[in-house]
Amino acid sequence: MKTRALLAFFFFFSAALFAITTAEIVYDSLGHPLLNGGNYSLATIPRVGGKNIIGAEVNNSNGSCSLAVVAKLFTKGWLTNIASPSSVNITTESALWISFAQLPLNSCTNNPKWVVTSDPEFEEPVVMVGVAEALNSGCFYIKPNNSAEFFYKLDFCCEFKCGHVGVKADSHGNNRLVVKDENEEPLVLAFVKETSDEVVASDISMVV
Ligand SMILES: *[C@@H]1O[C@H](CO)[C@@H](O)[C@H](O)[C@H]1NC(C)=O
Ligand SMILES: *[C@@H]1O[C@H](CO)[C@@H](O)[C@H](O)[C@H]1NC(C)=O
Ligand SMILES: *[C@@H]1O[C@H](CO)[C@@H](O)[C@H](O)[C@H]1NC(C)=O
Ligand SMILES: *[C@@H]1O[C@H](CO)[C@@H](O)[C@H](O)[C@H]1NC(C)=O
Ligand SMILES: *[C@@H]1O[C@H](CO)[C@@H](O)[C@H](O)[C@H]1NC(C)=O
Repeated sequence: MKTRALLAFFFFFSAALFAITTAEIVYDSLGHPLLNGGNYSLATIPRVGGKNIIGAEVNNSNGSCSLAVVAKLFTKGWLTNIASPSSVNITTESALWISFAQLPLNSCTNNPKWVVTSDPEFEEPVVMVGVAEALNSGCFYIKPNNSAEFFYKLDFCCEFKCGHVGVKADSHGNNRLVVKDENEEPLVLAFVKETSDEVVASDISMVV
C-alpha cells in the first residue's frame, strides 16, 4: 500500500494520541466556532513573528515543481478550507481535510488538498499541496495550544504515527511546514475568518 511506503518516513511515535482527551469546540480568532467547510486564513501569533500560511513553489531535482505549504511574513494568508466529514462541529478530536480554497494559476498542481509526504531535503515529513501519491487526507487535527486566546496547533496523525506541524527552513529560505516530533516547538496558529474585503484582497494577490 502506498500509505505504508509513505509511513516508512515517519520515525516518530507519540503516545499522546492515546491520551484520554475531551473534544473541545475549535474557535476562530474572534471566538466563533469554526465552521465545518469554512474558509479561514491561518496566522501565527503576532508576538512570535506574525507569519501567514501560503503556498510556495519549490523545484524538484528532476526539474518538475511542487507546491509546498510555508509560513511567510508580510504577506496575506491564502484562504484555507477546513472540513471534517466525520463530525458536524469542528472539535479538537475531528479528523480534518485541509485544502487551499483556491490556487493561483500555474501553481504546479491543480489539487488544493494538503498532504504529508517525504522530501529529500528534510528528515521530517513535509506538508505539500496536491501530491497525487500521498493519499493521507483526514489525518490533520487541530489541538489546543492556548485556546483561551483561540490559538491552536495542527497535529498530523495517521495509523498510530503522530507529530505536530512545525516550521523548518529549506535551502531557499522558505519556512516550510513539516511534521515534527511532539517534543519540538509546534507552529501556533489562529484561524482568521474570511471577510468580503479579504476575499477581494486575496483575489488580487493571486493574479499578481
Ligand atoms: C471557500 O472558498 C471557495 C473558493 O473561493 C468557495 O468556492 C467556497 O464557496 C468557499 N466556502 C465557503 C463556505 O465560503
Ligand atoms: C525553479 O526553477 C525555475 C526554472 O528553472 C527557476 O526560474 C526558478 O528560479 C527556480 N526557483 C527556485 C526557488 O529555485
Ligand atoms: C519529480 O520529483 C517529484 C518530487 O520528488 C515527484 O513527485 C515527481 O513525480 C517527479 N516527476 C517525474 C516526472 O519524475
Ligand atoms: C454545532 O453545529 C451546529 C450546526 O452547525 C450548530 O447549530 C451548533 O451551534 C454547533 N454547536 C456548537 C457548540 O457550536
Ligand atoms: C504551545 O506552543 C508553544 C510554542 O509557541 C509551546 O512551547 C507549548 O508547549 C505549546 N503548548 C501546548 C499545550 O501545545
